[in-house]
Amino acid sequence: MAVEPGTMNPFAPRKPLPLPLFFTILLLMLGSCSKPTTTDPAWQWQLPEGMPLPVVPAENPMSQAKVELGRYLFYDKQLSANGKQSCASCHQQQFAFAEPTDRSVGSTGQQHRRNALALVNVAYNNRLTWAHDGLTDIEQQLLIPLFSETPVELGLTGAEPQLMQRLKKPPYPQLFQQAFNSEQPDMQQVVFALASFVRSLLSFQSEFDRYAYQNEDEALSPLQIEGMNLFFSERLECHHCHGGFNFTQATSHSQQLLDLRPFHNTGLYYAARPGQAEAGYPQHDRGLAELTMNSTDDGRFRAPTLRNIALTAPYMHDGSLTTLEQVLDFYQAGGRTITAGRYAGDGRHHPAKSQFVRGFQLTDSEREAVLAFLNSLTDPQFIANPEHSNPWLAHP
Ligand code: HEC
Ligand code: HEC
Repeated sequence: MAVEPGTMNPFAPRKPLPLPLFFTILLLMLGSCSKPTTTDPAWQWQLPEGMPLPVVPAENPMSQAKVELGRYLFYDKQLSANGKQSCASCHQQQFAFAEPTDRSVGSTGQQHRRNALALVNVAYNNRLTWAHDGLTDIEQQLLIPLFSETPVELGLTGAEPQLMQRLKKPPYPQLFQQAFNSEQPDMQQVVFALASFVRSLLSFQSEFDRYAYQNEDEALSPLQIEGMNLFFSERLECHHCHGGFNFTQATSHSQQLLDLRPFHNTGLYYAARPGQAEAGYPQHDRGLAELTMNSTDDGRFRAPTLRNIALTAPYMHDGSLTTLEQVLDFYQAGGRTITAGRYAGDGRHHPAKSQFVRGFQLTDSEREAVLAFLNSLTDPQFIANPEHSNPWLAHP
């Protein structure tokens, strides 16, 4: 098998002490000094041995009762003003809590500009959504789907009194009692319970996990191991942005990038913009640049986790790549060339494109190996776990 010289793969040949992982864990530990990790003594994280604990806001410690209440709320269509949608409408367990739609449609039929993110190990994310530098807590972020008006997702603005009425019906009084010792549900408890449920959605049972963390050498096939080595190689560079145990923005080694923000322009677009001098990403979604107003942030989005990636098609912030094969073609070319239509242009030449998206050559068998490795990140137990599933099915 061809192993790249200078490979950065922490898991090959047989995990001595994976250095990138070490730094990731160190950073997480440092992070947790400033922000206390609080947990109900009765709460057990379901994590492989040695995996660092997620950081939880002090005001919302984890508890089994909150997670259970959050599960009922997550699957309850009463959470939308018109009763048509729940969180689970866009975040479906069988697709690792993403949905097989390029861009989400809200409860009133308005189209969202972005693809629903998978909810996989979100407890570890230090930035939330596709391109927001300031959203660091799930509690904050959830206010968007609940209350946003542009576009409407659940559309609860102005409908909170009705929601509180609805929450007086069984099984809620008992669930609120157990979770918050409360007779009078309020919006903050709703948000806290939902955030606790989202934090409980942990996925560490893939073939890759069995190989890397449970010392099951046979869990990955030789083809998958070859793919893993390519993934971590300096030729493909995937690990620079999809690094660490969560295959996301986590720092994978100390000299990685001076810019540690987990947002990158991968060269999806470089299109003329009507009425604007500069070409770039489509005006309706410029990524981080919308917040910073800085053109060097044009098209920068968060590198999402690749765990369960085979289940979460279509891909990218706007769902504009349909399959993993297409994603690989895209990186192989060093960006996307759109030849006709509104967004015609050559993303490969976007001036803000990351230096790590340079394009590379792969033989057919290497390509197959990388795809086989990406498939090894699927966790069948996660999507079958009854603790994450719709509790209302038991309440006809
Ligand atoms: C209409 C579809 C839709 C509904 C309903 C919806 N979401 Fe989302 N969710 C999305 C989309 C789209 C994104 C990406 C948003 C962005 O980047 O701007 C997202 C992002 C998220 C994220 C961020 C994940 C990450 O890794 O950063 C969380 C957490 C989340 N949603 C939880 C929820 C919860 C809980 C509910 C119910 C209260 C909910 N969502 C309702 C479509 C939806
Ligand atoms: C420069 C950083 C960077 C590098 C290098 C990189 N990625 Fe990405 N990746 C991203 C970002 C950022 C996104 C989201 C881009 C967007 O939506 O505009 C992404 C998205 C993806 C997605 C889609 C995720 C989803 O949930 O839709 C896949 C799959 C993926 N990358 C795989 C890879 C592979 C395989 C490699 C190596 C060949 C790689 N990436 C290299 C930053 C990077």
